Amino acid sequence: MSVRRLAEEQFQPAAFSFNAENTAWAEATIRKYPAGRQQSAVIPLLMRAQEQEGWVTKAAIEYVGEMLDMPFIRVLEVATFYTQFQLKPIGTRAHIQVCGTTPCMLRGAEDLIHVCKSKIHPEPLHQNADGTLSWEEVECQGACVNAPMVMIFKDAYEDLTTTQLEHIIDRFAAGKGSDIKPGPQVDRVFSAPVGGPVTLTDAIQPIRFSDAPAAAPAAAEASVPPANAAKPVTDAPETDKSLKTPATDKKAAAANTKVKGDSADTARPVKEAVATPVASAPAPAAALDEKNRPAGIERPATPDDLKMISGVGPKIEATLNGLGVYTFEQIAKWKKAEREWVDSYLKFSGRIERDDWVKQAKALAKGGEAEYIKVFGKKPR
Ligand code: FES
Repeated sequence: MSVRRLAEEQFQPAAFSFNAENTAWAEATIRKYPAGRQQSAVIPLLMRAQEQEGWVTKAAIEYVGEMLDMPFIRVLEVATFYTQFQLKPIGTRAHIQVCGTTPCMLRGAEDLIHVCKSKIHPEPLHQNADGTLSWEEVECQGACVNAPMVMIFKDAYEDLTTTQLEHIIDRFAAGKGSDIKPGPQVDRVFSAPVGGPVTLTDAIQPIRFSDAPAAAPAAAEASVPPANAAKPVTDAPETDKSLKTPATDKKAAAANTKVKGDSADTARPVKEAVATPVASAPAPAAALDEKNRPAGIERPATPDDLKMISGVGPKIEATLNGLGVYTFEQIAKWKKAEREWVDSYLKFSGRIERDDWVKQAKALAKGGEAEYIKVFGKKPR
């Protein structure tokens, strides 16, 4: 647990007061509580003070204490307990809070901290040169299943690799943090399994109210065209989908429900699953020029485990297999146009480059896990 103290005197402003809008808001907030219980408003008022000033100053703590008729020490206790409150000036564009609790640590939080140290400042809670970025390590943020993760202000970015965090930091540094969609950065919906549900898939189909998670296995099957198919079926990462499944998706899901038949179908080999065409499947978002599609091969007796590549989950692996991509060596040889074709096909918005699949695949093709560790300094996923 980090030690949380007020900023040194030289940073502290002489006074604090809410502006007119926030004063009206604070008074309305206090009135929500019964007489004698106004102190319950301490957290929202401190948060509003932080939003106004950028951080919680000593003067703001005293001001809130006076508004709520609370001893200053009680307000200080709250402000210093919760890491949501910043006690010294932080980055104006992003303050990266890296979760360093056990599940995140086991999944690579230490590497994320190294990224922050190298890209922002060697020390936590220090601004970078132009004052736009800062970072710190915090305790569990309640997204352990999607570890490792970071919080940036009120948004969580989960399932991170070092490459993804570097990209996120770069976007925020450029003032374009809103380009990055918060939440899982892999093909999963919220905290559902990567690639979609893997258990009780038949049981949940009749009662599902949202097609997004339940449609994943069906979509995975639908996304596996024959290697010579002219029009591939879209296999968008789940993070790109809204919970409101579009009508076209519903048709595809319905078609796949028919294809699936009984529960034994969930274990069907991929090749068998593609035998029935999905007439209503949506077309890919981008125009895909077939000449750039990477050459596929017949399924080898022992295909490589493509999931060892960071950014490839079971669903994406099935999609790649459907394109005739089964080995690290194939991916290692992809030219730029081929990478862009696959990226567009998967609606990845550049993730193949950001995660550097080719470098990963080259290492894995050359010497498996040992070579990967040599190149990247860590085990493959
Ligand atoms: S351990 Fe990181 S979110 Fe819980």
